[in-house]
Amino acid sequence: MKKILLISFTWLGSLAAIAQYNSQEIEAKIDSILPLLTLKEKVAMCHAQSKFSSPGVPRLGIPEVWMSDGPHGVRAEISWDSWAYAGWTNDSITAFPALTCLAATFNDSLAHAYGVAVGEEARYREKDILLGPGVNIYRTPMNGRNFEYMGEDPYLASRLVVPYIKGVQKNGVAACVKHFALNNQERWRDHINVEVSDRALYEIYLPAFKAAVQEGKAWSIMGAYNQFRGQYCCHNELLLNQILKKDWGFDGVVVTDWGGAHDTKESALYGLDIEMGTGTNGLTYSKVNAYENYYLAGPFLEMLEEKEVEESVVDDKVRRILRLIYRTSLASNRPLGSVNTAAHHAVARKVAQEGIVLLKNDNDFFPIEDKPDLKIAVIGENAIRMMTKGGGSSELKPQFEISPLQGIEERYKKATITYSMGYASGAPSYGRENPPPFDKDSLQQAAVQAASEADLVLFVGGLNKNHHQDCEGGDRKQFDLPFGQIELIDALYATNKKLGVVMVSGNAVEMSWLPKVKGLIQAWYLGTETGHALADVISGDVNPSGKLPFSFPKNLEDNGAHAFGKISYPGDSINQQYKEDILVGYRWHDTKKIEPLFSFGYGMSYTDFSISQVASDKTSYASDDQILVTYEVKNLGGLAGAEVVQAYVGKIKSSVSRATKELKGYQKIMLQPGKVGKGQLKINVNDLAYYDESISDWKIETGDYYIFVGNASNEIVKKLRISVTKDSKS
Ligand code: BGC
Repeated sequence: MKKILLISFTWLGSLAAIAQYNSQEIEAKIDSILPLLTLKEKVAMCHAQSKFSSPGVPRLGIPEVWMSDGPHGVRAEISWDSWAYAGWTNDSITAFPALTCLAATFNDSLAHAYGVAVGEEARYREKDILLGPGVNIYRTPMNGRNFEYMGEDPYLASRLVVPYIKGVQKNGVAACVKHFALNNQERWRDHINVEVSDRALYEIYLPAFKAAVQEGKAWSIMGAYNQFRGQYCCHNELLLNQILKKDWGFDGVVVTDWGGAHDTKESALYGLDIEMGTGTNGLTYSKVNAYENYYLAGPFLEMLEEKEVEESVVDDKVRRILRLIYRTSLASNRPLGSVNTAAHHAVARKVAQEGIVLLKNDNDFFPIEDKPDLKIAVIGENAIRMMTKGGGSSELKPQFEISPLQGIEERYKKATITYSMGYASGAPSYGRENPPPFDKDSLQQAAVQAASEADLVLFVGGLNKNHHQDCEGGDRKQFDLPFGQIELIDALYATNKKLGVVMVSGNAVEMSWLPKVKGLIQAWYLGTETGHALADVISGDVNPSGKLPFSFPKNLEDNGAHAFGKISYPGDSINQQYKEDILVGYRWHDTKKIEPLFSFGYGMSYTDFSISQVASDKTSYASDDQILVTYEVKNLGGLAGAEVVQAYVGKIKSSVSRATKELKGYQKIMLQPGKVGKGQLKINVNDLAYYDESISDWKIETGDYYIFVGNASNEIVKKLRISVTKDSKS
């Protein structure tokens, strides 16, 4: 007893110097701690002790690890052992725009500012791990969780995830990149087995995770619920042991998705470090503490004691967990964090302003000038609905959330604003659809009346955070607008032709009604500053510069995942095959020549830009070269604005099937009216490689390529032809 006390005292005494430790010293420190731990203590660190924490070693002062969702704000406190909110009164936060909006900014430095701000809030709330960001690829518009992710392009998601993670982790809070991997739908997510080619895996679904690990240096990763090639992703030998930990050198902690572990031996051996969220019913090992019944708890301890699994297996997990603890709660130079600051609100507003996408603007419908004789009828439930409520684990409790209507009313002081709900949906409940509380016909009649009395109509509709909308735990049931909105749009159009739409959604929707509307704004889920940011854009105080991070197909069948029948999406309930392979999103539309309604990278401005003088520094490159593409952009209009110049690359005559073009570079340039800006994009020839399944490695093909430069994936102003002369393997 005396000895233990002495050891723990010495160890604690050394904590003060932790800030000075470099990574080697941390490893040495961990080496000295590991022998002090009993097997039981080590095992305890590998599984939850409550819904959102895992235990430390109290006798040695080793802290618990506290986690919180993520990804676009720190979630309210949850009870110790139930999903009910704990009812704290000091846990409200800033709700940042959901990640589709961040992706639409095409702005890496904003992603960093976002990460810093949400990390500061997580730190203030004393969290060690923020459960985000999510970088699952947008494969189908039916996925209920697309709004939490960064779109359909692996390059865009990779570029944005890195600064986000760095920003979060500056606060001594670990980012937990999720859901690794292939959790691209909610339907049957807890068991569906995904079959996908190596090429699609490496080229489409893994790059953002790889960038998160190798460039972002993420300290933790969350496994996905689904299976991949017959093994659950939370203990998947190929994904976790081989790719993540061995090939990519990940030195952090793999956390399960909540309830994502299914087997003790696989959890022990195939890369899982902390098991969270497993059901606590059916006590077997302990009648006192149900968490001892987890796969990585009692059963794991037993396996270790019986030498069925070597102690080095648990040592590796504990080493990783201690490393995370040193990087977070034991980093004594850890900043203090802050919450609900004006600076955080400003970041939220800026991301929202830059992420809003103007999709249609006939006869300059937007911006709408504030004038005394103008009467605007704002119609639609989404004009007043709190979108931080519902949606699943990303639900937030913001200190405030400015609704679109509130933002418009605050901004428009001279014009008369009227409001009518027009349609209604039920209250959000996880896993359940509630009926709307109001009568559909009377809502519609009142809205039509309001529209008939107004000079113009602003319809604020779309999806919401209800089950089967943009929400965790289920996919959408329909591609078109729900809750009778199509009928309503028709009725509004019949009454007032000056009709504009603000689409609040994290997904593409069917828009056969588009010809009827003069203006269309894609507004995502914008969080705390929703109404302010929207009014900024609607009024023209801010010139829109967002670009779509995913394609909007005209029909669902035009999306690659839906072109092969049920086995491709949603699967046969047991298995699913990603038959469109590497042709996800615009890669599919382009290559198969299926015109989308709105393409990836598309977004209008209140001013016009021209892109010219596009040139590459050379015409021929070796495989280790960098291609420099230079260009000029001119702001042709009378308003300041930003343009996103995008460079795509396509192989001419490839030995394998390839997409017509793939995004390889972008740059957002802000320009005053009439001004010309010079820009440059650097593309590593290395990034032109494809994943060669025959050698299980990346390969750069020699020969000719096109570099397409434009301001959307289907708005290309210049096609440069270059050649690559030296094969990467030669
Ligand atoms: C979600 C995760 C989330 C976790 C904890 C799971 O159901 O898939 O994204 O972080 O719950 O709330």
